[in-house]
Amino acid sequence: MTISIRPILPSFAGEVSGVDITRPLDADTVAAIDAGMDRHAVLVFRDQAVTDDQQRAFSRNFGTLEQAPGGHVAKPHERRLPPDMQDAGNLDKDQRVFARDDRRRMFNLGNRLWHSDSSYRAVPAKYSLLSGRIVVDKGGRTEFADMRAAYDALDAATKAEVEDLVCEHSLIFSRGMLGFEVADDERAMFRPVRQSLVRTHPATGRKSLFLSAHAGGVVGWPVPEARAFLRDLTEHATQGQFVYSHKWRQHDLVVWDNRQTMHRVTRFDETQVRDMRRTTVSGDAPTTAQVQAA
Ligand SMILES: [Fe+2]
Repeated sequence: MTISIRPILPSFAGEVSGVDITRPLDADTVAAIDAGMDRHAVLVFRDQAVTDDQQRAFSRNFGTLEQAPGGHVAKPHERRLPPDMQDAGNLDKDQRVFARDDRRRMFNLGNRLWHSDSSYRAVPAKYSLLSGRIVVDKGGRTEFADMRAAYDALDAATKAEVEDLVCEHSLIFSRGMLGFEVADDERAMFRPVRQSLVRTHPATGRKSLFLSAHAGGVVGWPVPEARAFLRDLTEHATQGQFVYSHKWRQHDLVVWDNRQTMHRVTRFDETQVRDMRRTTVSGDAPTTAQVQAA
């Protein structure tokens, strides 16, 4: 196989050709994809009609699959997919579209907010790999923001101010933004974790802003001031010049590096079936020290 990567935007996102990810890959091909991820942060693979097992096997080339519990209000017996696959579709386990007022659907609406996957976990995600099994014609795009370029564009004073800040991330904050109420028995599962606001990529040494809708506080700051500041930074980081908007075709597989991007899904007609399946490669370590539970 001869892999090649065509840049989609000049310095962000690329489309890969010459790879069949349904088959085992040799070490050189995996290294080329990893290098492409370091450079482009988002890679699009077209026409990859993967099974769940093939998607898992491809994902494991890049690390360990995340299957940590929590992260959703759906109960284990309500899950459509096994624990090592995250369900980004709108179907229940009987393959029926969620009712408009289904609590699981309302929770999933949090994906419309700009975020980085699993930033609410002490060890946040490295790569997410999303397979479009059934895609919708209108809307339902996944948009990506380049958090390296967003960092680079900050002025020197802001760079100095954010350098050592630590944020608190929780699903309670992102869902709260939409008026979704977390039940008392879910609060412990969604306990906030700490994340550095500025990350340095381990391979390239580039700095990026580690923002997410899950971020609801800055350690040491009054909450309203922290949220106003995080909102300002997010508005800055998601300006058009930093964004790639992906229009899905069936059997696309899109991989993104959560350490240097944010993403969101755009609105679509939810009476239509949208079957999207995600595998997630765990990060290596926390971004900062955590506070131990009392
Ligand atoms: Fe996501």
